[in-house]
Amino acid sequence: MNETLRGEEKIRKEAGRHDYHPDREGYIGVFDSGLGGISVLREMVKAMPQENFLYYGDSLHAPYGTKTLEEVRKLTYQSFYHMLDAGAKAVAIACNTATSAAVRSLREDFPSVPIIGIEPALKPAAEENPGGLVVVMATPMTLKEEKFHLLKDRFGAGAEVLPLPCPGLMEFVERGVLSGEELESYLKEKFEPLGGRKPDAVVLGCTHYPFIRKTLEGLLGPDVKIYDGGAGCAREMKRRLCEAGLENEQQKAGSVAFQNSRDTEEEDRLARYLFSLPF
Ligand code: DGL
Repeated sequence: MNETLRGEEKIRKEAGRHDYHPDREGYIGVFDSGLGGISVLREMVKAMPQENFLYYGDSLHAPYGTKTLEEVRKLTYQSFYHMLDAGAKAVAIACNTATSAAVRSLREDFPSVPIIGIEPALKPAAEENPGGLVVVMATPMTLKEEKFHLLKDRFGAGAEVLPLPCPGLMEFVERGVLSGEELESYLKEKFEPLGGRKPDAVVLGCTHYPFIRKTLEGLLGPDVKIYDGGAGCAREMKRRLCEAGLENEQQKAGSVAFQNSRDTEEEDRLARYLFSLPF
């Protein structure tokens, strides 16, 4: 047996040590490789304001998108276990990279837990722009993994789909840099291979990217439609909670708590800042 398989078996074997006793008042756990998943958390709070949320960012190990598949699987399982141990009634993997690496095996290992993943919103982008150029910005791992290729084969056929790996882009958000010259020149360079051709649509296939949406819009102009999967992910969570009879029925606003593997005040401040930004 090779080393990769042995490592994966070890982390999956631990599954039995993590109990799941859901109750309606429990948290919805939302996690990401860092602060990007807060873009999904915002959509969830908007869609389900009466729910209690626990957000966990693994900024200490970010970025995930340029790591090996085995490393990302291991980190995703660790974050997932953390959510269950904190008493989550449902878990959102608010990270395209972690979803493509581990959602399938997590669902196999925890069939009774509602687990919602996120994937690039290629389906609406391709359907609404038939024959058009659809650029999918995401991490190198998301674009390399089988999940994306299946998505592209299934929904991308009616459009010209151009995958655009963006290593280094999530780091801007992790530093709280959402605009400015450095970010603009990064983005300009990324779109250079298009040779001035305007895409019809851009899919934000990483949960960090909605935070740089305004800067991207400024560069691409108002005609380019931008898609992200956050709202769809929130709708799916709502549907799954309802199906499992786990919606919180309290009549007041729920709580939102933040945790980060890089346990510093600066990280907490940045998380709250990103959460508070206007949509
Ligand atoms: N936010 C993550 C995603 O949606 C990835 C960022 C990273 O860790 O590379 O893919």
